[in-house]
Amino acid sequence: MDRITIFAPATVANVSCAFDVLGFPLEETGDRMNFVKTNQKGIQIKMLGNSNLPTEPEKNVAGVVALAMLEQTKVDFGVEIEIDKRIKPGSGIGSSAASAAGAAFGMNLLLENRFNTTELIKFAMLGEKLASGTAHADNVAPAITGGFALVRSYEPLDVVKINVPNELYVTILHPQIEVKTSDSRKILKKDLELKTAIKQWGNIAGLISALHTSDYELLSRSLEDVIIEPIRSVFIPLFYEVKKALAEAGTLGSGISGSGPSIFALSKGKETAEKAAKAMQMVYSQTQIDFDIHISKVASQGCRIIRNNNE
Ligand code: HSE
Repeated sequence: MDRITIFAPATVANVSCAFDVLGFPLEETGDRMNFVKTNQKGIQIKMLGNSNLPTEPEKNVAGVVALAMLEQTKVDFGVEIEIDKRIKPGSGIGSSAASAAGAAFGMNLLLENRFNTTELIKFAMLGEKLASGTAHADNVAPAITGGFALVRSYEPLDVVKINVPNELYVTILHPQIEVKTSDSRKILKKDLELKTAIKQWGNIAGLISALHTSDYELLSRSLEDVIIEPIRSVFIPLFYEVKKALAEAGTLGSGISGSGPSIFALSKGKETAEKAAKAMQMVYSQTQIDFDIHISKVASQGCRIIRNNNE
């Protein structure tokens, strides 16, 4: 395989209560990336459209991942990566993760699938480290595995894929303001009261159980974050107004997507997901802030091949 085009999905991380340990991908929102083998060794990055992202491989999220993979394989070719970045950086739907996971997935195809899923997630985490200073895996893991990805442990890395209940949809409001993950991590408290932790891990366990049994009511009760959301919500205009409107629209629950500013809502069925979109629109039309809304099934697949140019 000498050239390949792939899709790398946007992802929702944290899923309310599961900070840094749970995420899922969207079906159609994401980046496109071309990978071409070259005689010139090393990695070359090309950004399509008007992106301000750096193209030096050592400073580019996809570049650092690809360089690490080449370094480990010692192959006698290089790779040109062309990135059509459709997820805005600082959006809260895994922009850096799409580049990082896409790079790991695409490079692995050119390297004849020599790395397994856990190794690919570890490579992709290098990109997250570059982007936000922390190698969190809750965006890159689902971007690679598809479905819900639970990071049971970071050291050693242990990621569990959980299948998606059939009728689960997500609606996302993306206000066009940038919140850097590094900034929204700095404001978090380092200590917790035991009783707060107990509430949170009860919810995480409830959420995982609900996903396994497609128990939408339990899922709804478990979508509560008593640790991170109260702190980070200050960065998101009208956050609680949007949440209220989403509850009235009949969604299962809502919260901050990743580190924000995007807000996600989970719904049983497409009809409620569309009502959620209207509710988001109603609230945000009262602001001067531009916004996008995405509706998607929670995707069972992560990165995928769009075109294999050798065929
Ligand atoms: N778990 C990470 C955070 C996700 O909330 O900082 C960032 O998208």
